[in-house]
Amino acid sequence: MLASFAVAALCAGLVASSPLRVRSPYVVKESHFLPSKWERVGPAPADHVVNLQIGLKQSQFDELERHLHEVSDPDHGRYGQHLSVSEVNDLTKPSDDTWDLVHDWLLGNGIHPSRLQYNPAKDWISVSLPINAVESLLDTKYSVFGHEDGDYLVRTPEWSLPQHLHKHIDVVQPTNSFFRPQKLGRMLKTVEEISEKQWHPLPSPSPPKYTPGGDAVSVCNTSAVTPLCLRTLYGTVDYVPQVPGKNKVGLTDYLAESNNRSDTALFLEQYRPEAVSAAKDFKVVVIADGNDEQTQETPEELAAGKDLEGNLDVETIIGIGWPTPLIAYTTGGSPPFTPDLTTPSNTNEPYLEWVNYVLGQDDLPQSISTSYADSEQTVPYSYAKSVCGSFAKLGARGISLFFGSGDNGVGRSGDCLTNDGKNTSTFLALFPTSCPYITSVGATKFIPEVVATDARNGFVSGGGFSRYFPRPSYQDHIVPRYVESLGDQFKGLYNKEGRGYPDLAAQGYHYVTVWNGTIVSLDGTSASTPTIAAIISLVNDALIADGKPPLGFLNPWLYKRGYRAFTDVTSGSASGCNSTGFPAQEGWDAVTGFGTPYFPKILDILDVEPKKGHHGS
Ligand SMILES: *[C@@H]1O[C@H](CO)[C@@H](O)[C@H](O)[C@H]1NC(C)=O
Ligand SMILES: *[C@@H]1O[C@H](CO)[C@@H](O)[C@H](O)[C@H]1NC(C)=O
Ligand SMILES: *[C@@H]1O[C@H](CO)[C@@H](O)[C@H](O)[C@H]1NC(C)=O
Ligand SMILES: *[C@@H]1O[C@H](CO)[C@@H](O)[C@H](O)[C@H]1NC(C)=O
Ligand SMILES: *[C@@H]1O[C@H](CO)[C@@H](O)[C@H](O)[C@H]1NC(C)=O
Repeated sequence: MLASFAVAALCAGLVASSPLRVRSPYVVKESHFLPSKWERVGPAPADHVVNLQIGLKQSQFDELERHLHEVSDPDHGRYGQHLSVSEVNDLTKPSDDTWDLVHDWLLGNGIHPSRLQYNPAKDWISVSLPINAVESLLDTKYSVFGHEDGDYLVRTPEWSLPQHLHKHIDVVQPTNSFFRPQKLGRMLKTVEEISEKQWHPLPSPSPPKYTPGGDAVSVCNTSAVTPLCLRTLYGTVDYVPQVPGKNKVGLTDYLAESNNRSDTALFLEQYRPEAVSAAKDFKVVVIADGNDEQTQETPEELAAGKDLEGNLDVETIIGIGWPTPLIAYTTGGSPPFTPDLTTPSNTNEPYLEWVNYVLGQDDLPQSISTSYADSEQTVPYSYAKSVCGSFAKLGARGISLFFGSGDNGVGRSGDCLTNDGKNTSTFLALFPTSCPYITSVGATKFIPEVVATDARNGFVSGGGFSRYFPRPSYQDHIVPRYVESLGDQFKGLYNKEGRGYPDLAAQGYHYVTVWNGTIVSLDGTSASTPTIAAIISLVNDALIADGKPPLGFLNPWLYKRGYRAFTDVTSGSASGCNSTGFPAQEGWDAVTGFGTPYFPKILDILDVEPKKGHHGS
């Protein structure tokens, strides 16, 4: 069950209020084309249970957004005055009218109030129901849909609500979302192709050599990127965290990924010996039966590369951010199911699970990394808007969220068609990285840095423009200039008025990672994202130690001031969709954003004194 939802504390009040008994005919609320590569394989199993999530209209989202901008804009008087859990919840709770009408509908359909669960803001109701009950509630018919990669989902492309509820309910899932978060880490080769011989055995521990004042060119092997290289290149190597504990950093695991402690210990022994204890100390928060497996993987799990992503994330964050405590959130599928040939493996909407959980917590890491994404057009607009709105709530609370910008440039050639029934050519934007309330992270390689690509596995750092979210005001003074510089190139293939991404970048090529006791080399914005989350976490450490609030939602600051501390990347492009894709160029671009961070300059712009000294070994 959802650990995050408090069981209906309000049901007494509910039963007492006189039912409104409003009735109106059902009208289609939303339909979404079946994304390509999916097909209907049969009816939903009769014993299938759906954990229905109902997103109520938030009464004051515009207000919340105004607060978010004020507390995130360095020129505003309220900059840094982040909101508390209860302030955010008050701003987003539904109106009484919405509350009463929706409950009248649910109770009128025979659902007992004790089965309803609520998130802390009371803008999401969750209820587990047999499939036929959901079908009558939403006047629809669910089916099993299969993806060509072998995955199954129980979904319906179209769902309805009584007309009078259309303006009170924003989104109901799982219905028409075919969104499945994909891991963004790419192996040099797929696991199956790697024979025993190609695994590198771990060398015996030989602590990396730190040379005071050493430069990145002499420290780094850009074909085998290590924490010492990243800390030198981005200037955190001399920084001693002042307030670990007050300041924390987080990562998210989905798709049954977990973070292997023994591999992490092996990695740290090798590449950050003073941090080894962190391998057993990092905290794992399990949400909705998320995976926290620490045992030897089965051959099937190894073949599927389980925990490559999880290990890359945890090793990178501790390798750079230590001794800042790390919290790993591992979010699973809900409700439990018995897998068989016709029962889909996964029916949940994981970002909702995660975000509703963390929105109920008082104490959160100030910087959180997520290395998962999927094509924006597989996500219905209402769902994307709703999840993105929830990220805005975290931003208002002073949490920086980082998402990888994708690993296929502007889109994998062959996939670049619209999902509107017309199949016209398009670049493919990714969600959640396209959400304007988060910070999107692209990947670079080499020194001086260029856009990361790897011919061996087809990896190309992702970039583009949202088709769902319009350009946010913080981009108005800079992104149109980039769009203009493209002229008619790629005309019609992207939304010139959309939110452009990424916002910034970091190395994302050939990261040394320990997995299954051996060294593997990984590419991806999956590597860049935890790197940025760890570096920004160290910035927050310096701010908090100096009596200042953490950075919170980064972008308004980044686009106004912070960009000056980033090293511009001007070479390479987000090739894909049978095109060269968006080019890197001087200033902001849709493949590396403003470029890569230089920590001492960031502190300088924020006017905080770095405390230098102990550097680890
Ligand atoms: C679009 O492509 C899908 C397969 O992905 C096909 O079923 C459909 O008929 C195509 N539609 C048009 C208008 O070409
Ligand atoms: C850099 O790393 C690659 C990959 O591990 C390795 O083959 C190469 O020898 C290294 N170069 C140096 C100078 O150590
Ligand atoms: C995870 O850790 C266990 C020991 O705790 C180890 O036996 C296993 O190989 C690890 N799994 C992976 C995929 O590295
Ligand atoms: C994983 O580790 C086990 C135990 O050391 C080993 O037998 C196996 O070959 C390894 N598999 C892969 C894919 O590395
Ligand atoms: C890719 O682009 C080339 C040149 O612009 C064109 O000739 C070719 O047909 C395109 N291929 C596909 C699959 O669209």
